[in-house]
Amino acid sequence: MTKENIRAEFPLINNEKIVYLDNGATTQKPQSVIDALSEFYLKRNANPMRGLYDLSILATDSYEEARSKVASFINAKESEEIIFTRNASESLNLAANIFGSTLKAGDEVLVSTSEHHSNFLPWKKICEKTGANVKFLDCTKEGIISPESLKNALTPRTKIFTVASISNVFGRINPIKEFAAICHENGTLICVDAAQSVAHIPTDVQDLDADFLAFSGHKMYGPMGIGVLYGKKALLEKLPPFLEGGEMIDYVSKEKTIYAEVPHKFEAGTVSAADAYALGAAIDFINEIGFETIEKTERELTAYALEGMKKIEGVEIVGDSNAEGHDGILTFTVADVHPHDIASIFADEGICIRAGHHCAQPLHILLGIPSTVRASIAVYNTKEDIDAFLKVLATIRPKMGY
Ligand code: ALA
Repeated sequence: MTKENIRAEFPLINNEKIVYLDNGATTQKPQSVIDALSEFYLKRNANPMRGLYDLSILATDSYEEARSKVASFINAKESEEIIFTRNASESLNLAANIFGSTLKAGDEVLVSTSEHHSNFLPWKKICEKTGANVKFLDCTKEGIISPESLKNALTPRTKIFTVASISNVFGRINPIKEFAAICHENGTLICVDAAQSVAHIPTDVQDLDADFLAFSGHKMYGPMGIGVLYGKKALLEKLPPFLEGGEMIDYVSKEKTIYAEVPHKFEAGTVSAADAYALGAAIDFINEIGFETIEKTERELTAYALEGMKKIEGVEIVGDSNAEGHDGILTFTVADVHPHDIASIFADEGICIRAGHHCAQPLHILLGIPSTVRASIAVYNTKEDIDAFLKVLATIRPKMGY
């Protein structure tokens, strides 16, 4: 697919003539994903796994095929290791709650301080419930978590380390494979929040040796309402379900419950089959472009944007401003101007970016900055988008009278 062809697949950005640089929050959807959603409801809709009639069997097959596609996409050994949820937050809540059943008073859960609240709050809550302690692993001001600092933070009581593969503020790629090896050496599991990475770099859960890995469909060109929790099968088999209800059991009597096998014991109630089916279309779309093109396009745009940002007076890039290992997320402040004013000026010019603490308040406290502005890149963005962004960025301080 050529660059022009990729962009042409996204009706909203083409029809609305906006510069969309809020891809860390959610990406736009290609026509194939929009078509898959309506195709499910037009031709495949019935409650999966319940009916013995053809339509319900087709709905079940559509849902399970999507599961297999996700498994191959992240190179899981088996599709049973893929649990569908609503989003990455729900996936991380699920991981914390099911793993939490193994925690005891005095155990430790190590959380990177640069995490999105979704990968901190569920762990904090489960620690409060079990008497385990949350410990923090701080990054440097550049956003770097060194393997050495991880080694030093682990203790014999650390049961799990939870960390993003790419922070939603810094955009730096963490060395997850190295982190996993260090954790496993210590008898500690690793949970990876891959929400900001799945659409941008390849994910191979076997190579990473991740124990849990969570992500959302909507940040990878898929629909809102579908997310994934990957877990190693042997681990999932040992853990109890979180939600109870329909289709997650084998047998129920007044006295006795026998749960279904994984992954179904973790998917209570009617599933988001249409969204899963459309997530399958998003995976096809990503595979058609290929990660080689995705990474090359996004890294070139990131490097180009960082160079331009460094030339504008008063712009301070948050974290490391080196393009190497920096993927698609550009977080910054502008001297003397409030981030919400900056985002409003961009909005007036038709440029969509995000301002605030980006649901990573402990990180902002660590950095001593209450809020920042973030532009985030996807594969359909162009050099023209970055030029438009830089042009407006250069006007912010003069517009505010500086
Ligand atoms: N987690 C999304 C973000 O970082 C919403 O913007």
